Amino acid sequence: MRDVLKRKAILAAMAGICDGEFCFRAAKAGAGMVTLGGLNFDRETVMAGKAVKLRGRTEFEVEVEEIEDFLIKEVRRALEGGAPVAVNARATSLEGIMFAGEVVSKSGAVALEIDAHCRQPEIMAVGAGQALLKRLDELSEWITRLKDSFDIKVILKWRGNVVDDLNVARIAEKAGVDAIHVDAMKEGVNCGDLDLIRKISKSVNVFLIGNNSIRDVESAIEMIKAGADAVSIARAAMKDPTIVGRIALGIEEWQRKEKNGKI
Ligand SMILES: Cc1cc2nc3c(=O)[nH]c(=O)nc-3n(C[C@H](O)[C@H](O)[C@H](O)COP(=O)(O)O)c2cc1C
Repeated sequence: MRDVLKRKAILAAMAGICDGEFCFRAAKAGAGMVTLGGLNFDRETVMAGKAVKLRGRTEFEVEVEEIEDFLIKEVRRALEGGAPVAVNARATSLEGIMFAGEVVSKSGAVALEIDAHCRQPEIMAVGAGQALLKRLDELSEWITRLKDSFDIKVILKWRGNVVDDLNVARIAEKAGVDAIHVDAMKEGVNCGDLDLIRKISKSVNVFLIGNNSIRDVESAIEMIKAGADAVSIARAAMKDPTIVGRIALGIEEWQRKEKNGKI
């Protein structure tokens, strides 16, 4: 993953928000990578996404038959910003995620991120998103099959403190994942669980993207000091995605100063 990332701050997926234009703005401002989506890649998740949208949450409503054209167009726009693009993908089956792999690898995106994170009840009810954490054998097979079949990076994204995170990280590493992306959410606090990031980074030797409550350069640096190789930002970028670029450049400046012994 190190070879593809431009800088250490990434735009995280936000369904219905992170389209090509939104990603373009983050990328142009200096983001290290931008994430399109989440997008639904099989009929079950498309239907579930529609139900989520009916409740008033933001979602991309794209039919399975339209997803290839949609993705090619959106990835092209995002890439004009000058950063690599990942696509956050929801699916319920091996067939669904392999379809995602096929489409994402044709789109010009560099990475497919498996969404084992979404906890919207409709998505979980069809076995996708966070429900995948109960199907770790299958998840492991998905990673291996994607890696064997397509020339793309595979990222596994999940929410921490729900199941045994070290177990998930080890299974993903063994399956050949290129990066793990951990939302270090901790109920009851409004900052990332840095202890969790510390534990995971010590337990596996795989690129670790740390996520949750990054709002500025300082909180990003704290997460990197805890062991994250890069950080990702969602809510703080909702109104203005260029914040991801400013944080990425701020981290770079901190690294430069540290290298020169000025910190
Ligand atoms: C409106 C919204 C939509 C989101 N959609 C997705 C999604 O489709 N896939 C995903 O993996 N995470 C999704 N997330 C989660 C974010 O990527 C991120 O993990 C979470 O918001 C915590 O990071 P933050 O504190 O920087 O916001 C979404 C978050 C928000 C606020």
